[in-house]
Amino acid sequence: MSEKRPYLPRRFELHGLNGISDRTLEMHFKLYEGYVKETNRLEADIDEILRDGQVDQDEMPAYSELKRRLGFEYNGMVLHEYYFENLTRAGGKNPRRDAAFRNAVEQSFGSYELWKTDFAGIGKMRGVGWAICYQNPATGRLSNHWITLHEVGNVAGFRPVLVMDVWEHAFLLDYAPAERPRYIEAFFSNVDWEAIEARLDPRAR
Ligand SMILES: [Fe+2]
Repeated sequence: MSEKRPYLPRRFELHGLNGISDRTLEMHFKLYEGYVKETNRLEADIDEILRDGQVDQDEMPAYSELKRRLGFEYNGMVLHEYYFENLTRAGGKNPRRDAAFRNAVEQSFGSYELWKTDFAGIGKMRGVGWAICYQNPATGRLSNHWITLHEVGNVAGFRPVLVMDVWEHAFLLDYAPAERPRYIEAFFSNVDWEAIEARLDPRAR
C-alpha cells in the first residue's frame, strides 16, 4: 500500500485588511494550521486501526470517536481555506453590477440587498459557526446557510461560494462579542469578489 501524504497547511498572503487586524489574521492562521495538524493526526490514527484490515469490536468505540471528530477537523480545515481565500486587501464592498455572482444572486433572491440581508442575518445568529452562500450545481441557484461548528449544516454537493467565519476568534481581538455586526461589515469590505466569481459553476454561470 502506498504511503498517504499528509495535508500541508496553505499559506495566505493576507494582511492590511479593513477592520480585521493583522494580529487577528496571524492568530487565525495558527488556528487553521491546528485543524490541518489534527486532520492529519486523526487520519493516521484511523489508518493504524485499519492496518490489520478490520475494525475489531474492541476498537469500535475509539474508531467511532475518531471518525466523528474527523468531520469537525476536516471541515474546520477546508472552511478556513475558503474563508482566507475569499478575502483580499483590494476587496470591495459590493460585486460589480455585471458580475455573474450578482446575476445569480438576483435570480435567486430578487435583489442583491435582500441576499446580503439574509447572509448578514445568518452571520449574526447566536452560536458558533459559519455563514455560507452555496450554489446548487444542478440549478445554479444560490442559498445561504448557517453551519454549526464546522460540520453541521453543510449541504452535500453544493459549492461554497462565499464563506464567513463567525466564531468569536475571527473578531474578538478587534471587536467585543456584541459587536459582531461591525465585524460582518468589515468582512464585506474585504471580500474578493473575483475569487467568488471563480467559484461559480461554469455550467451555471
Ligand atoms: Fe476560524
